[in-house]
Amino acid sequence: MTAIYYDADARLEILKDKTMGIIGYGNQGRAQALNMRDSGVGNIIVGGIKDQYLDLAAQEGFETASVEEASERADIIFLLIPDEVAPEVYQKSIGPRLKKGAALNFASGYNITFGFIVPEPTLDVIMVAPRMIGEGVRQCYLKGEGFPSFVAVEQDATGNAKQIALAIAKAIGSTRRGAIEVSFRQETLMDLMAEQATWPLIFSVLTEVFHFQVEQGIPEEAVLMELYVSKEPAVMLEKMADMGLFRQMPLHSHTSQYGQLSRFKEVDKNYIRNFIQKQFENILSGGFASEWRSEQEKGLPLFKRLLDEALASPISQAEQRLRSRLR
Ligand code: NAI
Repeated sequence: MTAIYYDADARLEILKDKTMGIIGYGNQGRAQALNMRDSGVGNIIVGGIKDQYLDLAAQEGFETASVEEASERADIIFLLIPDEVAPEVYQKSIGPRLKKGAALNFASGYNITFGFIVPEPTLDVIMVAPRMIGEGVRQCYLKGEGFPSFVAVEQDATGNAKQIALAIAKAIGSTRRGAIEVSFRQETLMDLMAEQATWPLIFSVLTEVFHFQVEQGIPEEAVLMELYVSKEPAVMLEKMADMGLFRQMPLHSHTSQYGQLSRFKEVDKNYIRNFIQKQFENILSGGFASEWRSEQEKGLPLFKRLLDEALASPISQAEQRLRSRLR
């Protein structure tokens, strides 16, 4: 059975005499640094380039340093900068400066899975990946609530890698809820599959339903409201998380329940399955990773065009018209 770790499975003492170098003070860096400080663990240095993020870390009472200095001093280094810039920063400023036996902690498996970062074999390579945006990581901690995360060990040079990962998960507040053990590769696959299979399918359903109903003469404002602007589906998703995908059904009318369940049976799952399979294979083969890398090297022309197209699309324009009229 998959291991899920809780507070009782982790020991904060393992972090006590360690210096933690947090590289990046953005969404995750800030939340994790503040939570760890409040958990009373070790000595925390925020390492970064001179920018407003590093200024904020200093204002919020952290010792700050360059990426290079933090990497030299850290026993545990947290790589909490955008995945796109991490390989270059790691190669130039972090990797060559890390102590033997230091732990390198990621919040995403991407760069390890696709070989964009290849750490020295003398390092522990671990991951504590919150399933929560940075703001949520901090807010949950302050409210005394936990949040889920994935923990993984890719390389165990010291024999302590897992204990360090669990202690970090506890210090940032995740093991209050449960940290699920996965591999770096599994985390990467799940993350990219959500982005490249699940959400494109959901976007397609929403846009097709929108176009169809507007074509039938239903007011666009009402269609958008029904689809998601009312936030009713957001509440449903929350109930699915709390009660279960189908166990939340009794919250709907009988007509609704019958309609949902009987037509769910009718959907042709083959197309969906084939689409998912295609994305999966392209992710596994490294096709997506090399496509995305080459897009970044070209200066993101396709990404910018896709974003412009999406923001100028009929559904986005209709949302703007609706928003301007809502109170
Ligand atoms: P972010 O975009 O908030 O990172 C900003 C930080 O990166 C700033 O401190 C900035 O100074 C630093 N930075 C940017 N370019 C840099 C460079 N060239 N050299 C040095 N520092 C640089 O990053 P975010 O969203 O916190 O992501 C960090 C990691 O956490 C990523 O691996 C991401 O996949 C993962 N993650 C992020 C989540 C989120 O809440 N956004 C959720 C779960 C995981």
